[in-house]
Amino acid sequence: MVHRPHEVSDFQEDIHVVSDADGEAIGVIAIHSTALGPAAGGCRFWHYDSHAHLTADAIRLARGMSYKNAVAGLPLGGGKAVLQRPAGSFDRAALFRAFGDAVESLGGAYVTAEDVGTGVADMERVRERTRYVAGLHAEPGKSGGDPSPWTARGVFESMRAAARFALGSDLEGLTVAVQGTGNVGAALCRMLRGAGARLVIADIDRRRVDALVAELGARAVGIDEIVAAEADIFAPCALGGVLNARTIPALKARLICGAANNQLATEADGEALAARGIVYAPDYVVNAGGIINVSAEYLGEAPEEVEQRVGEIAPRLTRILEAATSDNTPPHIVADTLARRIIARGRRAAA
Ligand code: NAI
Repeated sequence: MVHRPHEVSDFQEDIHVVSDADGEAIGVIAIHSTALGPAAGGCRFWHYDSHAHLTADAIRLARGMSYKNAVAGLPLGGGKAVLQRPAGSFDRAALFRAFGDAVESLGGAYVTAEDVGTGVADMERVRERTRYVAGLHAEPGKSGGDPSPWTARGVFESMRAAARFALGSDLEGLTVAVQGTGNVGAALCRMLRGAGARLVIADIDRRRVDALVAELGARAVGIDEIVAAEADIFAPCALGGVLNARTIPALKARLICGAANNQLATEADGEALAARGIVYAPDYVVNAGGIINVSAEYLGEAPEEVEQRVGEIAPRLTRILEAATSDNTPPHIVADTLARRIIARGRRAAA
């Protein structure tokens, strides 16, 4: 594994190239900040058209993790791994063991877990090579397992709080457009249905959509239609960058609240949403449930601790939305300012 220091953003510490057993580069680990503790963030396994795009995504995602962990009050810095999904057939177990070797070589500076395209079984392969991994099968009475249900719960409770704040309404009878019905999106859909919301859904995986249409009576639309679907709330639960100069003018929803990381393509897009009177629930504030569970598993904390911390997400979002209104500042700026302040405090304390 080659180590390449890389100064690309406000806190960037370094980028590590992950290689397979033959020395071929298969991805990167980006460490954004260790001011508050080991850099923690999941491992994404996805197709990228170039190593440069993959690396750029890792850097953005790592920064999001620093901010997310700081705002959630966790003793963790921010990092992220992104691995290139091979086009043809491949030895999945060997690939995740090689990733485990890369994580181990960082000596605990980075702690991994699941993200898009990876699951508990992959993290078990990583565990064969390193102890700096969470999101493993939960032992009875202990924290652990798939973080997605916790993420979905934090997003759901945040959406309920934000709907009250922004739309003056409970979720019952509201229409929510959910983009991406994977681990988090599907769990979120079930909670929303339970709360009496109507669902419009889209996913590039047609089987996932069909299953939720049958189970929940959701309405399916095409992947190009979901952003502009007639809905009160838009919940991005697929990949990042969905809120951009092309999509924002088309939005019908008045509130955005979803699980995807890095929903805003640029900072200016957060301002464009505010200018349109659309309330944006900052992604890393509302989707912290998963990392809260991962953190508790890694630090050996009890499930009750997870329950309590996830329960703090929605009230925290409400405070951020209130501050955004009273300061006439977009919510993503309020959240970023809060995150930077907490990280700076951590740096000073560590100095
Ligand atoms: P997943 O891989 O289970 O689901 C993602 C879904 O999005 C897949 O079904 C995929 O087919 C679909 N998708 C991809 N591109 C799409 C497009 N253009 N249009 C519609 N659907 C599309 O991933 P998961 O775990 O559900 O995560 C979803 C998002 O939430 C990701 O951005 C992830 O980084 C974020 N997140 C997940 C956490 C977790 O605990 N799993 C924690 C925090 C954030």
